[in-house]
Amino acid sequence: MKIIDVKDYQEMSKKAAEYIIEKVRHSKNLNLGLATGGTPVGTYTNLIEDHKQNHTSYQGVKTFNLDEYVGLSGDNHNSYRFYMNDQLFNHIDIEKSNTHIPRGDAKDMQKECEDYENLLAEHGGIDLQILGIGSNGHIGFNEPGTSFDSNTHIVDLAPSTREANARYFDSLEEVPTRAVTMGIATIMKSKEILLLISGENKKEALSNLLHGEVDERFPASVLRNHPCVTIIADEAAIADEKVRS
Ligand code: PGA
Repeated sequence: MKIIDVKDYQEMSKKAAEYIIEKVRHSKNLNLGLATGGTPVGTYTNLIEDHKQNHTSYQGVKTFNLDEYVGLSGDNHNSYRFYMNDQLFNHIDIEKSNTHIPRGDAKDMQKECEDYENLLAEHGGIDLQILGIGSNGHIGFNEPGTSFDSNTHIVDLAPSTREANARYFDSLEEVPTRAVTMGIATIMKSKEILLLISGENKKEALSNLLHGEVDERFPASVLRNHPCVTIIADEAAIADEKVRS
């Protein structure tokens, strides 16, 4: 794993956007895996700025998001479909039909999981997957204990994840209890992974990722087995590593 250390959230967002823009400009039909949550918001803002100023085009790009809450339709303001439209897709020249997110309100969620996995395979898989990390080590919504062999599946969200995400909802009770997520095996099939880590509350997760065992109890540890991972981490997240070296 390659680590790029940057000063702060702003710099992480700028570097991540530059990394993505480079890929978008140089590969004709990029399959881009996207993430939600607080971490990539600044990256998306930078992509929009660049699109406006430098006219980087997303017409050849297809996107595939990691996850969605079960029970929320795309027009619900807390759904990840709404987030992606609002934070990125509505502001660049991507065809909405080329943006894919598992449906949280599908009638048959098991079938939705299988369809999503097939959709990824039909498109030849993800070229570059953007990831955040939960403080418990989750990637996508793959909570501790998820099998490294998992494909797209339904998960029960960990209490700590619901609490961390409650800031977007009116109350903790409103945070869905289940989600649909790409599995660990799905994520590992990506040709390249860009992991963004910012803030003191991610310090321990970064340390576990770099020095802990590769173990299903800490899902992100699987990334140590991936041949092409770049981490962009800010000072607050990486502080303990500096002390070590
Ligand atoms: P965050 O979430 O970006 O909101 O911190 C990351 C994650 O849970 O994967």
